[in-house]
Amino acid sequence: MARKKFLAGNWKLWGTLGEAKALATALIPAAKASENRVLVAPPYTAIAAVKEAVKGSPILVGAQDVSALETGARTGEISVLMLKELGVDVIILGHSERRQFHGETDKLVNEKIKLALKHGFEVIYCNGETLAEREAGKAAEVVIRQTKEAFAGLTEADLAKVTIAYEPVWAIGTGKTATPKDANDIHKVIRSTVAELYTKKAADAIIIQYGGSVKPDNVKELMAQTDIDGALVGGASLKADTFIPIIAFDK
Ligand code: PGA
Repeated sequence: MARKKFLAGNWKLWGTLGEAKALATALIPAAKASENRVLVAPPYTAIAAVKEAVKGSPILVGAQDVSALETGARTGEISVLMLKELGVDVIILGHSERRQFHGETDKLVNEKIKLALKHGFEVIYCNGETLAEREAGKAAEVVIRQTKEAFAGLTEADLAKVTIAYEPVWAIGTGKTATPKDANDIHKVIRSTVAELYTKKAADAIIIQYGGSVKPDNVKELMAQTDIDGALVGGASLKADTFIPIIAFDK
């Protein structure tokens, strides 16, 4: 089954209004010329400006996280209701930086996924093992456990709005990429987990992105793997010069 490739840029803690608008605007021609899905996830403060800049183009706009509560006493957090007002299309959840620096667990990520889906958003759910877990031979075990916990209570119909991003923690922002084969092996493990939890049909349809030091010079080989359906890109998504060749890897 042909799965449409999905290339997403996670801008993390980058992008004043001027920078964010300029970068989003620069990506429009490449996104229009591409058959792949393209997403940018600016910081919250630039979402409205980026939405406006990409209006009428196929570029989707994402948020990098959301609160697990719709409203209440959560100083500094942003609610699904606020993201809905901004017209956000997709919410990235469970990124390893949220887990590492903000103590997010799969249980919390599961709550956030359910809330985001309830409000009609698509989500990109991130998982991946640490270096210690990989060295201990536990990469597969970790992503299986994470996926099961994160998907608890989700129906097969819900999966139509869920993308998985496999991001080995040791490969994020480090310049180290999993070899395309090693990445693909874990993608297969994740896909089998979806088949086990749901059906083969659901597993065949789900989009699994790879993330971790994706660059113009390694994107082609990664995307050529049977079970890699896209990329979640940090550093290389911050410049049109490096993100455009990733969007257009198949041109
Ligand atoms: P990187 O980040 O491309 O800078 O490694 C990927 C990510 O964290 O999504």
